[in-house]
Amino acid sequence: MQRYIGTRDFLPNEWKAMNYLFSVWRDLSIENGFEEYEAPIIEDVKLFTAKSGEDIKNQLFWFKDKGDRDVCLRAEITPQLARYLVSYGKGLKKPLKWFSIPRLFRYEKPQKGRLREFFQFNADIIGEESVYATIEIIDLAIKIIKSFKLTGKDFKIRVNSRKIIDSIIRIFKINDPLKFYLLLDKKLKIDSKVFLKELMALTQDYKSLMKLFDLKRNDLFKELKNKGINVERLKKIFDVLGNECLEFDLSIVRGLDYYTDIVFEAFDSGNEFRAMLGGGEYNNLVKDLGGEDLPAVGFGMGDAVLLELLSQKKLLPEFNKNSAFLATIGDCYKEALKIKNFLIEKGVSIDLNVSSKNLSKQIQYAESKGISTVYIVGEKELKKGIVIKKDLITGKEKKIKSNQGI
Ligand code: HAM
Repeated sequence: MQRYIGTRDFLPNEWKAMNYLFSVWRDLSIENGFEEYEAPIIEDVKLFTAKSGEDIKNQLFWFKDKGDRDVCLRAEITPQLARYLVSYGKGLKKPLKWFSIPRLFRYEKPQKGRLREFFQFNADIIGEESVYATIEIIDLAIKIIKSFKLTGKDFKIRVNSRKIIDSIIRIFKINDPLKFYLLLDKKLKIDSKVFLKELMALTQDYKSLMKLFDLKRNDLFKELKNKGINVERLKKIFDVLGNECLEFDLSIVRGLDYYTDIVFEAFDSGNEFRAMLGGGEYNNLVKDLGGEDLPAVGFGMGDAVLLELLSQKKLLPEFNKNSAFLATIGDCYKEALKIKNFLIEKGVSIDLNVSSKNLSKQIQYAESKGISTVYIVGEKELKKGIVIKKDLITGKEKKIKSNQGI
C-alpha cells in the first residue's frame, strides 16, 4: 500500500523534527504574549468560497457528507479565525493575539516545499489597526526564524503594500490590474525581458515604472512620495525593525483575496526554496463574513520549506543526544527500574532495556537511537553498590555509587 500523494509518513524520527518545530513556534508565541486556539479540521465549504468564489473549490479537498452537505478539509485557518470572531468576537477584549498550528489540506500539485497535507504555524493580531500590530507580527516572524538558528544572511522578509500597488495602477494607468498583480506575483520566477514585455502591454509608461523596480529602498520611498503616494505605514515598519531581515519589494502582492494593505513573504537568501511564510493586513475579512469591523494582521508559516532549509543548513538538532539508556546485565530488572525512576526524578530522559540482548547489543541499540549516555546495571555491580555510567561519544566509563545518587 502506498501513501496518498503529497502526504508524509511520520516515523518517530520525522515526528521528532516536527515536534521541534511545534515547540519553537509554541514557546516563542507564548513568550511574546500570544494565546493558542484550535478549530475543526472539517468545515462547511461556504466558509472558503465566501471570499474567494467557487473556483477555490479546485484547490480544496471538497466533498458531500452523508447528509448531502458540502464540506471540505480546511486549507487555511484564517477563515476559521474570522468565523470565530463573527461568533464570539464581541465578548472578547481586543486586541487578540492568537496563534495556532493547524494541519491543513490543499488539493495542489505536490512539489518541493508544497504538499497536499502540511502543518502551518499561524499568528494573528485582531482588533488593532495601528502599524505597531503589524510590526509586532513581523517581529515575531523574524524571532521565530532566528530561533531556528537561521540568521539575517539566510533569509529576507520582503514587505510591500497593496495600497501602494493600487496607487501605482492608478498613476501609471495600468489597463488590466488583475494581469498586473499576476505579473508582479511571478516577477521573481521569470526572465526580466519577459517581465518587461508583459509590462509594456499593460501601460504606456512602462519605462518609468520599470525604473521604480530598480531603485533602492530609500530612493524608492522618495520617488513614490514625489508621485503623491503615501509610504508612511511601510516606512514606519523599516524605521522600527531596520533592514537586517527586511526588504521592500514591489513585487510581493500575495495570492489570497483578503489582504488590504501591508503584505509580506519570507524567502531563503539563495532563492532556492518557495516562500517560508506569508501574511499581511486583512481588515475586511471579519466584516465580510458578517461580523464586526475588525482590523487584523497575521501570517502563516508552513513546515515543509522550513524543514528543507534547516536540513540543508544542518540546523536540525540531534534529538536523542540528551537522553540516556539503562542497560542491564543478568536478572536485575527490578533494581534497574528503581534506578530508572530515580534518574527520571533527576530530570534524565531514560530508556530501560527490556530485552535479553547482551551488553554490546544493547549499546549498539542505544547508539542507533542517537543516545550518548548509557548507565549499566549488573548483578555483580549491584552487590558492590555500583552503577557504571558510559559516555558513548568519548568511550569513557565512570563508576558511581548507587546509594549516593547517580
Ligand atoms: P499562504 O501564503 O497560503 O497564506 O501560506 C503561508 C505559508 O504556508 C506559505 O508561505 C508556506 O510556508 C506554507 N504553505 C502554503 N501552502 C503549502 C503547501 N501546499 N504545502 C506546504 N506548505 C504550504 C495563508 O495560508 C494565510 N492564511 C496566512 C495568514 C495568516 N494570513 C494572515 N494570517
